[in-house]
Amino acid sequence: MPIPIILDCDPGTDDALAILLALASPELNVLAITVAGGNVGLEITLPNALALVALAGARVPVHGGADNPLLGEFLPAHHIHADNGLGGVILPPGPPPAPGIAADAIRDILRGAPEPVTLVGIGPATNLALALATEPSLAVHVRDIVLMSGGWVRGNITPAAEFNAYSDPEALAILLGTGHRVVFAALDLTDQALATPARLAVWRSLGPGRCLRAACDIQVAVPPSARLGGQGAPLHDPCVIAWLVRPDLFTAFPAHVSVDLAAGPDRGRTRLDRSGRTADNALVLDTLDADRFFALLGDRFASLP
Ligand code: RIB
Ligand code: CA
Repeated sequence: MPIPIILDCDPGTDDALAILLALASPELNVLAITVAGGNVGLEITLPNALALVALAGARVPVHGGADNPLLGEFLPAHHIHADNGLGGVILPPGPPPAPGIAADAIRDILRGAPEPVTLVGIGPATNLALALATEPSLAVHVRDIVLMSGGWVRGNITPAAEFNAYSDPEALAILLGTGHRVVFAALDLTDQALATPARLAVWRSLGPGRCLRAACDIQVAVPPSARLGGQGAPLHDPCVIAWLVRPDLFTAFPAHVSVDLAAGPDRGRTRLDRSGRTADNALVLDTLDADRFFALLGDRFASLP
């Protein structure tokens, strides 16, 4: 049976590929897509999500949500995603968003769900945290919380913190406090998914579809990561979807994860404790079979219109 998910995102180039992968995967039932400001601001991320769902020919409700974190403001990442959030790639506009803000939509879906729903977060966790913090009893309707978030030895937006965790650390702390296991695809995992020119060239050879072409055009526009040797850009967000679809491509271990909230250089740092002294609250994705990951993505993008 397909896994029912709600996908919360901030498209964003890697979000775009994650959205296409989710919509191309029969193993998933995407009940809704909810959008936060995150990477480039809600006035851009929301139309991007709508355009991507339309490009895939999917009929999935898209709800706008938080354009600010629980505290403060989002710090845009135009240097990675370009001004339009999709590497400059222009997509045909999608339809208007579904009525209702993201947190309300998430709660409505959970309240009426015939089976527990997996909450998937690939942006700042604000919408997910708002939904669960304002109605904690809905946690019984949650199957798993799966996030692209965190980094155990370094950050990418500050030396200490990864972008999603840094963007709303209080929201991440709320999710860690729900009593639900949180599955982490942190930088230590997602940096293994390096989209090199050779891998993108293989994708381009797989077919003429508009979604495959858009995925390639969007990804080729992302600056190679100097942090990773300049050979390509890491595909952070699609790792979360790939784990749901093909967990056999990954290894993982249980641990306790916490997030630093204090103002200062460590704000948003995610800390990993594998000692067992603190009760595990997380499943940490550890390794990825990158070649099979890219083959999966290429196959799924090529299956779309
Ligand atoms: O650190 C990577 C994360 O931050 C990804 O979700 C990317 O889209 C950005 O939001
Ligand atoms: Ca994202």
